[in-house]
Amino acid sequence: MGRIGTEPGSAGAGWACDGARRDSVACRCAYGCRDLAFAVSLAGVFRCPPLDEPAQEEVKHGFVVAVLSSYICRMMKTDASEGFLAGVFHDAGRLVVLNALADYGRKDSRLWDPEVARRVGNGAHGPLGTLLLERWGLGGTVRECARHHHKPGQTDEPLATVVAMADYVDRLGGSTESERAERLSENPCPHGPGLSAAHVTALAGAADAARNDPMLGAIAG
Ligand SMILES: [Fe+2]
Ligand SMILES: [Fe+2]
Repeated sequence: MGRIGTEPGSAGAGWACDGARRDSVACRCAYGCRDLAFAVSLAGVFRCPPLDEPAQEEVKHGFVVAVLSSYICRMMKTDASEGFLAGVFHDAGRLVVLNALADYGRKDSRLWDPEVARRVGNGAHGPLGTLLLERWGLGGTVRECARHHHKPGQTDEPLATVVAMADYVDRLGGSTESERAERLSENPCPHGPGLSAAHVTALAGAADAARNDPMLGAIAG
């Protein structure tokens, strides 16, 4: 795995979300129509009332992880487009679970419980997502990230560590950029290389920008 650089001239130099990037974070991180089309189609494929709300949150989370994974890849001078795709699909298995529970819940409405979906998904979403992505014909790298993003040490695929970092940053949450940075400083990411203060600021800014991206509203409602 490459190193995230901060010195002038390195991939990470000057990497922060300024006002211009805020307005176009999706366009900077998605490489062409293919990546955005995947993000949009994922939201459209899984329509699962009455679990649409957690499904939409998963789609939003996938989008933010895609943006962050793409940013981290760019800093490391690795394939940012593949990083975006791996991020979009990393939790696709949770959408499969939500879809299944929405369906089975017509016979037993106790299954229409977001907490049940969360608990079922915790153990199942990695293998289920991997299976789904295989059926959809997506490549081995993206599948490895779906399977191992919670334990990236279990695979030799370095992108799984990138996705794990991005996933961790977004799951920490925070309603503002500074709150996100504070949480990340107080709860260092257990995956990948240690993050400098500059990286923490940059990742918090990128996550906040992605969460507030108008494109995300259009995708997930
Ligand atoms: Fe996950
Ligand atoms: Fe995730």
